[in-house]
Amino acid sequence: MKRVAIITSSDSGYRGEREDLSGPAIREILEREGYQVVSLDILPDDREILKNKMAEIADQGLAELILTTGGTGFSERDVMPEATEDIIERRVPGIPEAMRAYSMTITKRAMLSRASAGIRKKTLIINLPGSPKAVRESLEYIIDSLEHGIEILT
Ligand code: MTE
Repeated sequence: MKRVAIITSSDSGYRGEREDLSGPAIREILEREGYQVVSLDILPDDREILKNKMAEIADQGLAELILTTGGTGFSERDVMPEATEDIIERRVPGIPEAMRAYSMTITKRAMLSRASAGIRKKTLIINLPGSPKAVRESLEYIIDSLEHGIEILT
């Protein structure tokens, strides 16, 4: 089974002041790849709220994959890597390394994403940067390698 939960970290998106284009961009790519999208949540840039949501999805076995977008940069409210690292049991550094290495061929600003990834129980969690452009570029590069990892994990 390939189920994915999508989480957008955005204060303005949560307040309804900005339309979330990045969550739907992830959904479009994952549906094309045959994943079932089980949820798409827009949450505030809050470490506790973000980590509780990710842990709940993993602990209840609701999805094999969690993809997050946003909150990986340098602003004080960018806490997605910290929230992720709070709750993962095993780190998977190769995936953000690969995203950054490929993205650096497009823009050197890719080095500014602090995105993390790891495993909790049988769920793989991956942070993507925030803009729809960055989401597409990062995800298109890693997507076909994820299935093999998820198969081994589940
Ligand atoms: N990665 C790709 N592939 N394409 C991009 O345009 N933008 C970068 C980086 N990663 C970018 C990218 C920029 S400008 C920033 S500040 C960081 O992601 C962090 O973005 P975030 O704070 O929205 O998560």
